[in-house]
Formats: sequence, C-alpha cells, structure tokens
Amino acid sequence: MAKIIGILTGGGDCPGLNSVIRAVVRRGSNLGYDIIGIKNGWKGLIDFDAVNLGLSSVSGILPKGGTILGTSRTNPYKEGDDAAKVIANYKKLNIYCLVVVGGEDTLGVAAKLAKEGLNVVGVPKTIDNDLSATDFTFGFDTAVNIATECIDRLHTTAESHHRIIVVEVMGRHAGWIAAYSGIAGGADIILVPEIPIDLDEVTELIKKRHSRGKTFSIVVVAEGAKFKQGNEILQEQKLDAFGHVRLGGVGEALGQEIEKRTGYETRVSVLGHIQRGGTPTAFDRVLGTRFGVKAVDLVEKREFGSMVSLQGNRVVSIPISRAIEKIKTLDMELYDIAKVFFG
Ligand code: F6P
Repeated sequence: MAKIIGILTGGGDCPGLNSVIRAVVRRGSNLGYDIIGIKNGWKGLIDFDAVNLGLSSVSGILPKGGTILGTSRTNPYKEGDDAAKVIANYKKLNIYCLVVVGGEDTLGVAAKLAKEGLNVVGVPKTIDNDLSATDFTFGFDTAVNIATECIDRLHTTAESHHRIIVVEVMGRHAGWIAAYSGIAGGADIILVPEIPIDLDEVTELIKKRHSRGKTFSIVVVAEGAKFKQGNEILQEQKLDAFGHVRLGGVGEALGQEIEKRTGYETRVSVLGHIQRGGTPTAFDRVLGTRFGVKAVDLVEKREFGSMVSLQGNRVVSIPISRAIEKIKTLDMELYDIAKVFFG
C-alpha cells in the first residue's frame, strides 16, 4: 500500500498556496505516495475533514489565488482535547507525514506536534514576509506588486487634486510590504511598525516637499505602525485563536493628523485584503513550486521536523523550530535607502 502524505494550509491565505499544493501532489505522486488534503487548516484534522488529492484535483490551480483546501486560524492547543483529536485523526487517516503550510502560528502547532512524535514537514507562508529563517515567503511578491500598482494609481489622482494620499498596506509586525511597495512606487514617506510614527517629522517632510514646488504627496503606512505615544490602532479588541488583535485604522488616524497639521487636503486608501487575493506573480508561483517539491523530498529523506527555506537562491531544509523563534523585522539598510527619497 502507498504511503500517505497529508497537506494542510493554515492561517491567512496568500497567493501561491495552490502552487505548493500542486507541487506536493505532482512530486508525491511521481514518487508513489498517495496525497490527501486536510480541509481548513488544523480545523480539518479536528473535524476529520479530508479529501483525496489526485492529479486531476490540482489540474489548473497554479494561477489561482487562495487555497483549494480552505484555511482557518484554528489553534488545536487552545480548546480542551482538540490537540488529542488532531493526533488521533492523523493516525486514523494513516498519514505517514503531514506537510504543514503556514505562518508562525500554524508552524508553531506543527512544531508542538513534532515533539509529540508526529511526522511533519513545514512550508513557510505569509504575505508579510516576517518569518525568520527564510529570505522570502511566497505571497509577499504578489502583495508588493498589487500595492505598487495601487500607489502608481494613487499618484495620478493625488497629483490632479493636489492632495496628500495616505495608503495603508498590510504588515502586522514588520514593514516589508510598506518598504518594498513604497520604494517601488516612489512614496514620499514610508511608515513601518519597527519605527514609531513621529508626527512632527512627517509634517515637516511634507511641508519641505511642498516648499520645493510639489503639490501632492504619497504616504505609505503599514497597518501595524504605531504613533510615538500610543499603541497599534485596532478595528476591534477581540483576539483570534492565536491571540492576535484585528488591526486597521492607522491610515485614517494619520490622514486626519496630516490634514490638521499641514492644512493640505488629505485622503486615505486602505488596500486590505486586495493584497492577499487573486493570481500569484510568476515569482510566487515558482517559489511555491520549489517549496512544494522540496517538502516532498524531505518526506522521502525522512527529514521530519524540518521546514523548507529560501536562503539566497537555494531552497534548503532547517529545523521547523527556527521558523518560529523570532519575527524577521524590516532590514534597516533597506529603510535607509527608502529614506533617501523622503520629502
Ligand atoms: O498575517 C498576514 C496578514 O495579512 C496581516 O498582514 C494582517 O494583519 C492579517 O493577516 C489580517 O488577517 P485577517 O483579516 O485574515 O484576519
């Protein structure tokens, strides 16, 4: 009987997940494994919700955004005996190894299950690009390209109306999307979670820019950025299963302050989930594909408890525990480059 590889996708969705699923199915089938997909992240293993993934189930999914398996932020270590159910159902499904595609939280659960003796291999995923131990995650490049296109579009309307436009992009703990899209889109100020927002400095930069004849400005802000005195701005206080708050609103608060302090008409554009939806870029499709193939190769080599990781231009294997050690915050050398173009 063929050995079974299970695969699940957990946490926020991101473009490129289907590339990983397709690659796992194609490589796994070539090597003689049967593949099953667990529905909706860890929730599917709690509820015993799984489907067979044959070659036909992954046909045509490469350019498709989201995940054909569905996802959730269910944390089996939060509620009663859910972790025990996950382990029991893993065994009931006769899984030889589970490929877990997720961010910090989903991989954190995988690391705990590995300690309990389950065979797991991790694949890092987040549009925020803030997972340590991998240079890039798929989904990030797509998000950056979408945000850059939006910044380009906002330029023409800001210029025509002589306005300031604040663009709020995703980035809970790290300003990678803000910095990359801001540099690529020629933003006049970029504000990131790593550096508290100094409103005096922002006002001064905008005034300086206008004093040299510019009549509009684009300010990019990451949703997780905080004001010098204060915390992150939240949409609601409720926490999800992994203890995260729902961010959003810093753009609006910043826009109001900028208008008040500079006297220039200001508008705010929140890009939100547009950055996570739709078809992945070629880069993300290739990275997802490389990660998926490598994950199956790690199963084949019995390198359980490991995770695939992009280091330079090579996809290598590292212990899964390293992915969750710490957040990879923005490289300040990159931010210094962005700052050359401020004001
Ligand atoms: O972690 C990825 C991310 O897109 C963050 O940038 C954002 O804060 C969060 O997920 C939003 O997630 P959701 O709206 O799906 O709960």
